[in-house]
Amino acid sequence: MAGFKEVDRNNPKFIEYFVAFFSGRLEIAYESLRNSLLGNSPFNEEIVLTMAATATQATATPQAVISPMTRREFLYYIWFASMALVGLQTGAALLWFAYPRFKAGTFGGIFEIDISELPPVDAGPKPFSGGRFWLVNIGDGIRNDPRQPAEWRPAPGVRALYMICVHLGCLYSWIPTNNRFECPCHGSKYLASGTAIAGPANRNLDVFAVQAVDADGRVIDEVNRQTPLVNGEARTLNIQGAVKLRVDTGQRINGASNPNPREANA
Ligand code: FES
Repeated sequence: MAGFKEVDRNNPKFIEYFVAFFSGRLEIAYESLRNSLLGNSPFNEEIVLTMAATATQATATPQAVISPMTRREFLYYIWFASMALVGLQTGAALLWFAYPRFKAGTFGGIFEIDISELPPVDAGPKPFSGGRFWLVNIGDGIRNDPRQPAEWRPAPGVRALYMICVHLGCLYSWIPTNNRFECPCHGSKYLASGTAIAGPANRNLDVFAVQAVDADGRVIDEVNRQTPLVNGEARTLNIQGAVKLRVDTGQRINGASNPNPREANA
């Protein structure tokens, strides 16, 4: 429109507008913006007055007694709307970043494992590196290991052991010749059941929540954070009738407190 000029962002009045607007001094902001856009020429003043008069004539009716919105009110509405918009955008951005987005099959998500991928009963645990867990299929051989302390002797079934040592977070390994896990960092040792039997670890190995699913897709057993603990640790998963397992690597359950780990017969 004739009379308006392009906004010069280096114009001190325009900068003054932003400073005043965001500090809530709306009258000053209005004047600064007006001067930035229109300048001070009489011609521009005339345009403003003509527009105002036209608008008044168009809306005036003899009966209507509606008090017009003042300039101050209008500016406050704009200011509050802008602040609300900024608040909404900030909140939405925070939610977007805070919301966990783990895909199935990646660490933090759920791993579906066919029952055929399980290690045989009482065989050495099988690593699933993508999910950072070992699957161990516990039978009488592991249950009755003479090194197994009685208070944590597990029931037959499956556990998904978190691969990280509970002492200071190193990766431990399965040592078949010693039939136990050993941590290379400070020498903690764990049985296949997850029970700590030596070293500075002060609790048994952590496990992930697991589900056993039958051929119809029904969950026939489940161990998660809500499942009652047995002597301070998660029970084993019963896999009778299951065709697949789900391991939830986003749901870790701490091992039982075991401040002086030792073998049962030591
Ligand atoms: S981190 Fe494993 S024993 Fe210290």
